[in-house]
Amino acid sequence: MSLSREQMLHEMGITPLWVLRDPAPAELSEMACDEAVTAPEVVAPPSVIADVPPRHGPAAQTEPLVPTTVAARTGTTTPTVDHLDWPDLARAVAECRACGLCQQRKQAVLGVGDLQPDWLFIGEGPGAEEDVKGEPFVGQAGKLLDAMLASIDLERGKKVYIANAVKCRPPGNRTPEAAEMATCHPYLARQIALLKPKVIVLLGKAAVHSVLQDDKPLGSLRGRQFEYAGIPVVVTYHPAYLLRNLPDKAKAWEDLLLARRTLAARQDPALPF
Ligand code: URA
Repeated sequence: MSLSREQMLHEMGITPLWVLRDPAPAELSEMACDEAVTAPEVVAPPSVIADVPPRHGPAAQTEPLVPTTVAARTGTTTPTVDHLDWPDLARAVAECRACGLCQQRKQAVLGVGDLQPDWLFIGEGPGAEEDVKGEPFVGQAGKLLDAMLASIDLERGKKVYIANAVKCRPPGNRTPEAAEMATCHPYLARQIALLKPKVIVLLGKAAVHSVLQDDKPLGSLRGRQFEYAGIPVVVTYHPAYLLRNLPDKAKAWEDLLLARRTLAARQDPALPF
């Protein structure tokens, strides 16, 4: 099924017909340190993304980063996990006590979805509901993420995997600290190595920090392609941020279209970007 532009906007709640107006208080506080809030501006989804390197452009226009570089730079205390298969990785995450986040979690939340995905979406960390259910993005932000997926004909679990930068809930839904993300990064890196997604979408600043080691304002990273371990990476806003900044949903939709074009180009290099 291919949705029309109007249907996509409708799915994402950009039209007045479908809007998540009452994010849970926990979600509202969750991303307090995330994207800088800019003056709301309604942006019509453009048909062309200006700042995307041409598909056949020089390799230097993407920004490669290999996981081992991250691990070396951050000096994590996490046990070596880069040889683990899924069951052993799941066990290691469930039993992890490498940082203080283990103390108040109900359970670690590894991720959910298709183990042979085209798409990997990476968020920040479990919130209260995710901590209880053991699945990422099951609260209000998760509902919006599902709508975002639907807007580009995707469905949780079907060629889609969803993970987080940290696997344990930060107390009070605070933003995870850099050291916590660094400690958890080997798990994420191993997930990526096992999943081999064709495109990665980073949802918000924490995911960008964890995967790209980049702390620039999120708005300056959108509309570009990055690379992680040879996999194209696209950056967009976190759904919890979008719940508070509804006009930016249009920009997130542009980002999803960019990711979709990126995937299509990877699957068939003959297609026009
Ligand atoms: N926010 C996230 O970043 N991840 C979740 O799993 C839930 C909310």
